Amino acid sequence: MSNLKAVILVGGYGTRLRPLTLSQPKPIIPFCNKPLVVYQIEALAKIGVTTVVLAISYKPEEMAKALEPYESKLSVKIKYSRESIPLGTAGPLSLMKKLLQEDSPDSPFFVLNSDIVSEFPFSDLLKFHYAHGKEGTIMVTTVTNPSKYGVVVYDQNSGKIDKFVEKPKNYVGNKINAGLYIFNPSILSQIEVRPTSLEKEIFPAMAASGQLYAMELHGFWMDVGQPKDYLIGMSKYLSHLQENDQEVQTLASGPNIIGPVLIHPSAKISPDSLIGPYVSIGPECFIETGVRLKHCTLMNNVHVEAHSWIKSSIIGWHCHIGKWVRMDNATVLGMDVSIHDEVFINGAKVLPHKCISESIIDPNAIIM
Ligand code: GDD
Ligand code: MG
Repeated sequence: MSNLKAVILVGGYGTRLRPLTLSQPKPIIPFCNKPLVVYQIEALAKIGVTTVVLAISYKPEEMAKALEPYESKLSVKIKYSRESIPLGTAGPLSLMKKLLQEDSPDSPFFVLNSDIVSEFPFSDLLKFHYAHGKEGTIMVTTVTNPSKYGVVVYDQNSGKIDKFVEKPKNYVGNKINAGLYIFNPSILSQIEVRPTSLEKEIFPAMAASGQLYAMELHGFWMDVGQPKDYLIGMSKYLSHLQENDQEVQTLASGPNIIGPVLIHPSAKISPDSLIGPYVSIGPECFIETGVRLKHCTLMNNVHVEAHSWIKSSIIGWHCHIGKWVRMDNATVLGMDVSIHDEVFINGAKVLPHKCISESIIDPNAIIM
């Protein structure tokens, strides 16, 4: 298979992942020590995709710089298609029509939401798509709270989609759009260069004309575009690493580790701390004695002083946490936040470069 292409939708401001996205665009936010979108690019490269186009409306230079090393490492070309105004999820495809059709005018192409983690079974998706022969295939997964997703109603035998309803108010079903698609180039003639939604406009029309199929995604899946979901996605990914024998050596082990835990080799961890389960620790972190970490992510250069207790939280780059600090309940610290000794934070979102010297009990607090 040559000349396969993929589009990753990376536009939007990632507002639900603030304050992290105030410092870096969502697709390159670290997830288990790698930029989020790199997991997708790796999976695409693995099945022979040679060109990945990022549909972008915000901060392209920073993203290009972060992703450049992966081009040679993964032998893929990474291109950027820049929108002057956000074109939604479908409009960007029309904007890059030429790019998608050069060299391979008849080849189907992948389209991905950028905030998804999964095993990305793209070769199964490609096979299924060729087998039914229609215009598009979307991957679906099962969730318990379908209202915040696109719900897909389809024939369990053939996969033919009867109905696609984006963020339904009333219950329609629990199979949802996983944000991973493959389309024939003929779809491009139905999309104009204007803000257009795949989910609200294009998919319902394709379903009505019998051109849209669904394939069930096996294995883990999560949209990590919000703090709570990011932490759930991290747990799912670490469990997946733990279950896959060949990758287990990347996980940490030792008397003070309750797996699965991922620790960057350059991080320094006191043997008198207790770490895990479900913890990811970034480069150059320093964890002092008596610290307790569970179900949390620390990005690079985070310093946690003695006897602090951190659970269900995301700690951004270069943060400093004092002694006897307690953090819980999807607290998110932006870049370079400093927390004084003995402070308790119960779910607040703290913007970059802040100094916190008093406890914040309100879980909805935003500290600016
Ligand atoms: N280029 C570009 N331009 N990309 C955009 C734009 C835009 O104007 N708006 C959104 N995107 C990108 C986002 O960066 C993200 O990767 C993707 O399109 C989907 O947008 P989200 O904002 O994350 O949507 P969602 O999570 O509420 O819902 C979507 O994902 C669910 C699965 O996680 C929908 O596709 C649902 O149907 C789906 O179930
Ligand atoms: Mg999303």
